[in-house]
Amino acid sequence: MEKILVIGSGLMGSGIALVSAKAGFDVTVVERSQADLHQGMERMKNTLTSLIQKETWTKGEKELIWDRIQGSTMLESGKDAHLVIEAVPEKLSFKQAVFRELDQVINKEAILASNTSSLSIAAIGGVTERPDKVVGMHFFSPVPVMKLLELVYSLSTSDETLQKVKLIGEKMGKTTIIAKDFPGFTVNRVLVPMMNEAVYLVMEGNEPEQIDRGLELGANHPLGPLRLADYVGLDVLLFTLESLYEGFNDSKYRPCPLLRRMVEAGRFGKKTGQGFYSYK
Ligand code: CAA
Repeated sequence: MEKILVIGSGLMGSGIALVSAKAGFDVTVVERSQADLHQGMERMKNTLTSLIQKETWTKGEKELIWDRIQGSTMLESGKDAHLVIEAVPEKLSFKQAVFRELDQVINKEAILASNTSSLSIAAIGGVTERPDKVVGMHFFSPVPVMKLLELVYSLSTSDETLQKVKLIGEKMGKTTIIAKDFPGFTVNRVLVPMMNEAVYLVMEGNEPEQIDRGLELGANHPLGPLRLADYVGLDVLLFTLESLYEGFNDSKYRPCPLLRRMVEAGRFGKKTGQGFYSYK
């Protein structure tokens, strides 16, 4: 395994590209347009600078990492990749379109992984002629800091594929867990309903600070569920809950009406400046 192709350079894609390069892989990041690619490369540069300022990574690593990353707007530039990690927005039709194209363009031996946090790996792999080589590699945000990598196998994913991505994940410094291909996999299946429950508490009139402090000090969580929801993005949280709700057809995953209202009002959390807390 030498070359990794990362599709998408948003928050997740750029983090995945950085940890891949740090692990010694040659990385090509693909975006739809030059403008998006430019934005993604800037994001990576800023993240790298901030990781060095915080002494999470060392100055010496910076040049090495940066030299290993290339940007492109053409999937063909990664056709000799050994592994592709897709990190485009969480919409099944987007992901399926990307995988259909990847299957045509990328060499037949390559593993095609999705960073989806809730969509079906079977449905993504099903549009390719190599579903045995399609797997979930679910990284957690912020990717350079979070230690976990959740590996998701569908009914069609081969053991060989799973073993290969496990080794790559470990080379990236991540600890892996293995999860079955059901909505929310393992971590989000537990975490996301907890955040939803915290939103119900706000709707009932409790103060966000009180709820967060409760979970921080009473359950030893590093940060409370509402602050975390603001960081993750309330739009992303709502989408993940809807995937659980639809996937299991179970009312226990029903998104809290307040969460829906906040998203409708454009209060997505930190990225829009307002969520349960203000970031202005
Ligand atoms: N998503 C996006 N950004 C995050 C984030 C997250 N989950 N968690 C932290 N950040 C960002 C913060 O916004 C902050 O950004 P700025 O530097 O631009 O202000 C930066 O990371 C540092 O955060 P802190 O101020 O908290 O710094 P710290 O060094 O004290 O702690 C940390 C860093 C250990 C990562 C801590 O923030 C933390 O524990 N965060 C929670 C991480 C987490 O639980 N991630 C899993 C999310 S679950 C998920 O993603 C669900 C899903 O798929 C739908």
